[in-house]
Amino acid sequence: MKVLVVGSGGREHALCWKIAQSPRVEKIYCAPGNAGISQVAQCVPYGAMEFEKLADFAKENQIDLTVIGMDDPLVGGIVDVFEERGLRVFGPRKNAAILEGSKAFSKDLMKKYQIPTAAYENFDDPRKALAYLETAKFPLVLKADGLALGKGVLICNTLEEARKGVRSIMEDKQFGAAGNRMVVEEFLTGREVSVLSFVDGKTIRCMTSAQDHKRALDGDQGLNTGGMGTFSPSPFYTKEVDDFCQKYIYQPTVDAMAAEGREFKGVIFFGLMLTEEGPRVLEYNARFGDPETQVVLPRMKNDIVDVFEACIDGTLDKLELEFADNAAVCVVLASGGYPVSYKKGYPIQGLEQFEHAQGYYVFHAGTARKEDQVVTSGGRVLGVTAVGDTLQQARANAYEAARWVSFQDMFCRNDIGKAIDEA
Ligand code: AMP
Ligand code: GLY
Repeated sequence: MKVLVVGSGGREHALCWKIAQSPRVEKIYCAPGNAGISQVAQCVPYGAMEFEKLADFAKENQIDLTVIGMDDPLVGGIVDVFEERGLRVFGPRKNAAILEGSKAFSKDLMKKYQIPTAAYENFDDPRKALAYLETAKFPLVLKADGLALGKGVLICNTLEEARKGVRSIMEDKQFGAAGNRMVVEEFLTGREVSVLSFVDGKTIRCMTSAQDHKRALDGDQGLNTGGMGTFSPSPFYTKEVDDFCQKYIYQPTVDAMAAEGREFKGVIFFGLMLTEEGPRVLEYNARFGDPETQVVLPRMKNDIVDVFEACIDGTLDKLELEFADNAAVCVVLASGGYPVSYKKGYPIQGLEQFEHAQGYYVFHAGTARKEDQVVTSGGRVLGVTAVGDTLQQARANAYEAARWVSFQDMFCRNDIGKAIDEA
């Protein structure tokens, strides 16, 4: 089989690496890819939003399966374009990717189908949102409706902060058109867990749990980022929590989408808050998480190509997912100044150490090739992942491997997985 992966981050590197293990796959392409991905796939110079060019490429090169990693092309309808051209593609259609593309849509869906989530109101008029704040309880959470690179969520402790937030989202359009509508939501407290799942329209199969660290600095200080590291499984995701989510969240979400005429095929990522009253959905994503994928896939035993095909063909009920009884930790190595501003083009040393180190992986997020060197080309540069028998061991291994690598202005969080010790 020939497979095309669309995207260029650590998630797509992990996907390409996992796909490469399938005995059914003879060739992988990735558009546009990065320096690390080019070790397992042939990179092709098309952007993820160039739907027609990507579909032409898939036709001309007789691609058997295309896997979409990123949210923007999914929400923009890349799957519809591929299907219209008769191409096999893994991911939700536009009318289902709205589960991630519009937070107002997802909140209304949860309300209608009684899926547990924070109480909320949607607004498309800033004056009404500002008036609502006058009687609201604090802290509260403001969310731009559309995609905002994971940055469209503001937690406000005071009325003044919330007023500023509404103005910057809805009037100044800090996140562009994503702020045409807005959700104002009750603030929840508890442990956060990410659960990724495969869905074939009817059946849902969950992957092992993970937890992301979104803030830039140790102790959850600093700005929100795309994710500074992950661990899997989450010790807080107990059997009891899983039973609750299976019954009240996972299957109900899949059924709700089908009932709305928006059959969902692909990956649903459930961002959950484990509150004292039970698990609540914080958000849905319509794709693999980044960097959750970098800890989940190294633990997955299945041939991922079989799973992709079962989702497309509607035969997921015939398949069980299997995960190793171990743990994994991913530490993101980032460019100094991320997530605000940072320099690119610094040479990266030490990558060769991973070549023969079993159970250690370096997934490239923002790298490029410059002559015969690999250089930094993004804010998140590398995701260093290691497995271990326990979370503690995986964490020790990941931090050991993080020290193999260096580049100018490199930084990482030193407390990825620290919460494990409290479990
Ligand atoms: P989201 O993009 O919706 O996952 O939000 C980003 C982050 O904001 C989440 O990972 C949480 O840490 C936080 N967050 C979102 N919604 C809430 C909420 N209702 N209460 C508390 N924190 C939240
Ligand atoms: N790690 C969070 C996300 O992928 O949205």
